[in-house]
Amino acid sequence: MNAPQRHNSFRLESYWMPFTANRQFKASPRLLTRAEGMYYTSDDNRQILDGTAGLWCVNAGHGRSEIADAVGRQLSTMDYAPSFQMGHPIAFEFAERLAEIAPGGPSAGLDRVFFTGSGSESVDTALKMAIAYQRAIGQGTRTRFIGRERGYHGVGFGGISVGGILNNRRVFPQLPGTDHLRHTHDPARNAFVKGQPEHGAELADDLERLVALHGAETIAAVIVEPVAGSTGVLIPPKGYLERLRAICDRHGILLIFDEVITGFGRLGAPFAVDFFGVVPDLVTTAKGLTNGAIPMGAVFASRKVHDALMQGPESQIELFHGYTYSGHPAACAAGLATLSIYREEGLLTRASEIETYWHNAVHSLKGLPNVTDIRTIGLIAGIELDSRAGAPGSRAYDAFVDCFERGLLIRVTGDIIALSPPLIIETSQIDAIVETLADALNQVA
Ligand SMILES: Cc1ncc(COP(=O)(O)O)c(C=O)c1O
Repeated sequence: MNAPQRHNSFRLESYWMPFTANRQFKASPRLLTRAEGMYYTSDDNRQILDGTAGLWCVNAGHGRSEIADAVGRQLSTMDYAPSFQMGHPIAFEFAERLAEIAPGGPSAGLDRVFFTGSGSESVDTALKMAIAYQRAIGQGTRTRFIGRERGYHGVGFGGISVGGILNNRRVFPQLPGTDHLRHTHDPARNAFVKGQPEHGAELADDLERLVALHGAETIAAVIVEPVAGSTGVLIPPKGYLERLRAICDRHGILLIFDEVITGFGRLGAPFAVDFFGVVPDLVTTAKGLTNGAIPMGAVFASRKVHDALMQGPESQIELFHGYTYSGHPAACAAGLATLSIYREEGLLTRASEIETYWHNAVHSLKGLPNVTDIRTIGLIAGIELDSRAGAPGSRAYDAFVDCFERGLLIRVTGDIIALSPPLIIETSQIDAIVETLADALNQVA
């Protein structure tokens, strides 16, 4: 047994870290202690350029005093208030501001907002709304969900059931009856593409296969990430999302877009709904909703779904669902301040202005050792590496550690590097990301 690791004034073993190889980490910890703008500071006082907006969430950059001040004011005015059969003004105000920028604009009608505490909770909420909706319209046999291979929808039992990542599912039971579309990743036909790949719209027809297998009358909803992030940046082929929408319509199946990472400007439009011009029935969000400053999620529900449930006696609770922290005042304050920053600094569309530079810079890594694919969209990039024989994931992990030592935070999943910097990034910082990555890729060759 190793001696317990002591770090300055605290030990490391009490904290059971999420999605972390705890023993490996604690033997050689990487600690962040401050953050401002595009940079973290590590505990050994190094500046670390944030290539991942934290975890796809700090879209407006770190240390925004407007958010801190708004949260502080709210906490000293009213720290907490219940949201069950009670209300507080700031939750209504935040919902209204969100409705004004709701995915797809006014014609999409996705402007009924349910607050949660995280992306995982948003996903569970949307899944439950879908079932409740189907039942409300007399389609109570529709209880099945269709997700997609390589999808990530958080870690609730609903989310892992519709998710398509083996390790997140392997040892856990799942919702009965879920099934999965094939994923859209096709490097043989679509390698080194900037923006949407040409090939693969027909993969949406997989939904017809599942309808033929299970019967449309058993399927409540399909959930997909418009751009899959956590499984390594899988960008929808041209026409794919449109086709999925059409098949859902044909069979009375609700379409849920999980926009936990694509929401709030990541693609260069406020939401992926706006970017792709495809309108689902429910949209899940979190992360950029509060710039990551306070945990919060939100589900944008269409009026179709919402209004179908606003039936029956008015004294009756329409949806038996909610969280202690739904509409938390401090989170709403953070969210309102975040939306103001997004608006004043044009951040919900800034990625579209800088995207060409981003595409070209990241694609310049083509030709470096082991780089088998590069894909970019908005301010996202996926760089896929050839795996080492018998040690999948080790090359990208080593690149991650090497980058951190060189002063850059990247994210890796398997042997794919995912980049998603804050939307305030400048071109010189894009250059720095690419230069550091090039050095790291040569190092782990
Ligand atoms: C698409 C998607 N959905 C859901 C989640 C889960 O969000 P959270 O970790 O806030 O529960 C994530 C997190 O990365 C995500 O990327």
